[in-house]
Amino acid sequence: MTADLLIVGSGFFGLTIADRCARELGLQVQVIDRRDHLGGNAYTEVEPETGIEVHRYGAHLFHTSNQRVWDYVNQFTDFTPYQHRVYTTYRGEVFSMPINLGTINQFNRSAFTPAEARAWVAEQASMLTGEPANFEEKAISLIGQPLYEAFIKGYTAKQWQTDPRELSAEIISRLPVRYTYDNRYFSDTYEGLPVDGYTAWLERMADHPNITVTLEADFFDETQPHHKAATVGQVPIVYTGPVDRYFDFAHGDLSWRTLDFETEVLPVGDFQGTTVMNYADTDIDYTRIHEFRHFHPERDYPADKTVIMREFSRFAEHSDEPYYPINTPQDRERLLAYRELAKGEADVLFGGRLGTYQYLDMHMAIGSALSMYDNKLAPHFRDGKAFA
Ligand code: FAD
Ligand code: NA
Repeated sequence: MTADLLIVGSGFFGLTIADRCARELGLQVQVIDRRDHLGGNAYTEVEPETGIEVHRYGAHLFHTSNQRVWDYVNQFTDFTPYQHRVYTTYRGEVFSMPINLGTINQFNRSAFTPAEARAWVAEQASMLTGEPANFEEKAISLIGQPLYEAFIKGYTAKQWQTDPRELSAEIISRLPVRYTYDNRYFSDTYEGLPVDGYTAWLERMADHPNITVTLEADFFDETQPHHKAATVGQVPIVYTGPVDRYFDFAHGDLSWRTLDFETEVLPVGDFQGTTVMNYADTDIDYTRIHEFRHFHPERDYPADKTVIMREFSRFAEHSDEPYYPINTPQDRERLLAYRELAKGEADVLFGGRLGTYQYLDMHMAIGSALSMYDNKLAPHFRDGKAFA
């Protein structure tokens, strides 16, 4: 092994570490990824028939209020002024999401003021008394029965493939309701999409003579040169794969939700008039449809074709891509046990969404990698401090 640092995983976390260590410290960095492309879940590809950029692992919207992260990412890409908005279809009618004054007034065929809408929701929510015993009761205690039944119940049942009365109340602590007509999905200082796409951005991060990316190289495949037994103890490692997998599931599996996607090219110029349409009814299997052309209205996409992607959601099995941590009390207990094991790995740092079992937005993954660089990697390689 000739590299100074091995990074397992080429998502935003791994590539941020690779960039800083190569460009700031001049280290030789070896990145491996088990997939046949770099970029992790933010990877996008061009659909060949239409030229439309498709987000293979689900729609990725970039947003941040972190000035350092914003300055950092702007070294690699410019951003469009795209602002995300979401709609939902419920019983043949389209409503604006997240639940806002427009949603409430359309739902009630009313003209409530903010104060009237607030009073209406509070009155509905007060009908459930006592400690909520499950997800459904918790949701009703937060926003009342009518809004819950329309906008949360069916969608949640499809997300989890489980009746919300069988889901734990702890899955939600709040359900945002806005008492204005503002339906911007994110409220961060900065928001936009990479002008040349996510893959071009991710490739620029890796484009440095000191950075080598090897694809289709699984850290646990002993036929690979950079596999676990051949590298741990030989070279410092930043590991961004699943933490339970690293320790061979010694404390049991951490549970995840996964998504299935069905992509289709349609012979119409515009299928739904917007990027993301949720489906709240349970007689429709998918949770939402993405229409990718609308992420880039500034691009010259064909007028007679479009690409849509239906999204389905379920509990992940061992062989599925882990997407969202479920975070049950048992998961949290196991995570603590894995963290203890991780502390004992003197040459390995665990990072990213899989390595820490945490949902991280892109800006959080990048911010957390910059912190690991500041607090661990630079002190180690510059000043000889302990690695992990
Ligand atoms: P990942 O991108 O998952 O990268 C980890 C990499 O490690 C993968 O490439 C994987 O192949 C590799 N790996 C795993 N195990 C091994 C192994 N054994 N050997 C070698 N390589 C391995 N963020 C936003 O900011 N906005 C959004 O709109 C948004 N939407 C999202 C939608 C979905 C469906 C999901 C799942 C995530 C979304 N995110 C979004 C989050 C975003 O994808 C993450 O922040 C980002 O992917 C985190 O980067 P990461 O490097 O930690 O993990
Ligand atoms: Na460690």
